[in-house]
Amino acid sequence: MIYVGNWKMNQSFEEAQKFLQSLKQQVPEEKQKSYIILVPTMLFGLMRDELSGTNFNWGGQNCFYKNEGPYTGENSPQLMYEMGARYVLVGHSERRLLFGETHEMILEKAHIIVQNKMTPILCVGESLEQRSQFQNVLKSQLTGFSNLSPLMVAYEPVWAVGSGKIPNNLQIQSALSVIKEVIPHSTVLYGGSVNGQVFRTLLCKELDGFLIGKASLKVDSFILDENAV
Ligand code: PGA
Repeated sequence: MIYVGNWKMNQSFEEAQKFLQSLKQQVPEEKQKSYIILVPTMLFGLMRDELSGTNFNWGGQNCFYKNEGPYTGENSPQLMYEMGARYVLVGHSERRLLFGETHEMILEKAHIIVQNKMTPILCVGESLEQRSQFQNVLKSQLTGFSNLSPLMVAYEPVWAVGSGKIPNNLQIQSALSVIKEVIPHSTVLYGGSVNGQVFRTLLCKELDGFLIGKASLKVDSFILDENAV
């Protein structure tokens, strides 16, 4: 199983440092590669310093779709790679809704992430209003990604993010089968209100891992499966 933590815009420098020190103590070396932590860009230096020499993976939550140029305030994917990031989240519903990211922008970002030897983690998922149309929504959000490799795809229904609501297993499995049908080579994750109480009920053979928001902010809740440690 792969456990991807999405810190969003949370953790102070000190909180992040304490988190990483405790994570290193709690997760033995051979299990560390199952964890990917996606952090605010301002914490990249800390990640590089604290996690060098470990097998933990880490990356960013967004990047620009070019490596350099007159784009004040944006983050270069090339520089992210140079700092040690190996994964970048793209198409999170918060970026689509709050920052107006379009399908074209998300596709361009995913391509430049791969060009820079990193893995894009693409979030797809329907809103509550789109629920009855979820297959079409997923297919349109996946358009143009089938030739991209490596690629991780997280099924994250918008209504499940941060809400405590979780789709039932049948809903998750039908979404995962749409993703696998369009992009057979992708690694597939589920995200949206995942925590230690519910994750076991969501396990199924199609699923490769979880994308975890709120529960990833504390080491004890980020480690969902004590047996994995
Ligand atoms: P949540 O967030 O686990 O807090 O619902 C998931 C996400 O937004 O990636």
